Amino acid sequence: MEKLDEKIIIDGLENSIFACNFKLHETATSTNVILKDMAKNGAPEGTIVIAEEQTAGKGRLGRQWLSKKYENLMFSVLLRPRGVLKPESAFVLTMIMALGVRKGILKITGLDPSIKWPNDIYFHEKKLAGILTEFSVKEKRLEYVVVGIGLNVNQEPLESDAVKGLLKPATSIKKEAGKTISRNLLIVEILKGLERYYLSVLSGNMDDVYKEWNDCSMLMGREVEIAMPKGNARGRAVRIDRTGALILENENGEEIRILAGDASVIMK
Ligand code: BTN
Repeated sequence: MEKLDEKIIIDGLENSIFACNFKLHETATSTNVILKDMAKNGAPEGTIVIAEEQTAGKGRLGRQWLSKKYENLMFSVLLRPRGVLKPESAFVLTMIMALGVRKGILKITGLDPSIKWPNDIYFHEKKLAGILTEFSVKEKRLEYVVVGIGLNVNQEPLESDAVKGLLKPATSIKKEAGKTISRNLLIVEILKGLERYYLSVLSGNMDDVYKEWNDCSMLMGREVEIAMPKGNARGRAVRIDRTGALILENENGEEIRILAGDASVIMK
């Protein structure tokens, strides 16, 4: 079993912004929680908090994120896109993390995962990873953004839980690639990819990011159902807009804008 190795990762990152302040924890509460505290205390852009194990890993919508020690990747990245991004555009940072993860997996394994709105990475209808983005706004500007990712790398998925309906079906890179993956090499490729997309966002070029994200989306063009607290919506997914809202076309040809929810593809 290969442990995460700070030196291998930092050497691999060369002069990336993500090599500047890299904190590896054997055990952490939640890398997002730790990094938000560091951000409040002035940690620089590019700071990474990564853990072999979390005792209070958080998912979206108040869920837990569970992951076996030494098997997967759980880390959070601090971004400070001062002045460049308005708070209503912060979703683009979730998008570039998803694109970076997809690129890293593609490079290391040849597998080509899809992105599932709003914050998941899937492979053949099974979840590989989830992203949790949290940010702070000060004087109408983004003060900091923490983008956290949990990625199933070498873990055997909990199929029985999926079958019982407790979880959506999950998978791991090892299961799909048929071999154990070096997490040290994978995170380097993910962060290199993320940095390229981030520089593109900072330079104001978001069109390519939106296009690539839409091209890799597993929902686009398909009939989907979105579970929301106030009831479900159904329609064909046509695009996401600049705020990250999903646009559905209903059976009357009208467009519905969905800000958040859990999406399922309707199998015919
Ligand atoms: C989801 O699918 O609901 C999002 C899961 C995000 C989990 C990651 S693991 C690293 C970071 N720290 C956390 O507590 N959560 C995110």
